[in-house]
Amino acid sequence: MAPTVILIGFMGAGKSAVGRRLARSLGWDFTDADDEVEKSMGMSIPEAFSGEGEQFFRDAEQEVVLRLIDEAGESERGTVLSLGGGAVTIPAVRERLKAEPLVLLLDEDVETAFKRAGGGNRPLARDREGFRALYEERSYLYREAAGFVIETSGKGLAEVVREAEAVIRTETGIRGEENH
Ligand code: S3P
Repeated sequence: MAPTVILIGFMGAGKSAVGRRLARSLGWDFTDADDEVEKSMGMSIPEAFSGEGEQFFRDAEQEVVLRLIDEAGESERGTVLSLGGGAVTIPAVRERLKAEPLVLLLDEDVETAFKRAGGGNRPLARDREGFRALYEERSYLYREAAGFVIETSGKGLAEVVREAEAVIRTETGIRGEENH
């Protein structure tokens, strides 16, 4: 059984971009939970929110995230799994994360997060005030779920990936030459 790294954090923290680069650098698999939830629902996240409502999306997200963590745990290869920003609002996911040794929080300041995530098609990132309120409301959930916190404000992608990789190599004892 190989390690699983789970990236959590608010919308716009860079979970998908960091996750993809990190996995490549470690020679591991990368899975983006939002993509898998969309496949399982058979529709995009904006369509799910507008057509079926947020709870429909969260139910699908719960089912998919728990399955992805199980699958990653059974895999022969290491996995980096990026969760959607709201996954930590689901009690069953929070409970499951307690058993995971490598949960990394990418912690971005709210202004940068909004610059990255706002104004696009994320249903919960349409207005600045709502975005900010959600950020405040959730911040303790992220900290509670995380085993490690990586501050991303003011840092480029490569630097964040390097820091995350250093944490993983220290925690797992995997060295550079053993990863492919
Ligand atoms: C959400 C975050 C999104 C996506 C959905 C809801 C949230 O993922 O799952 O729009 O509640 O924070 P990202 O964090 O990848 O944007």
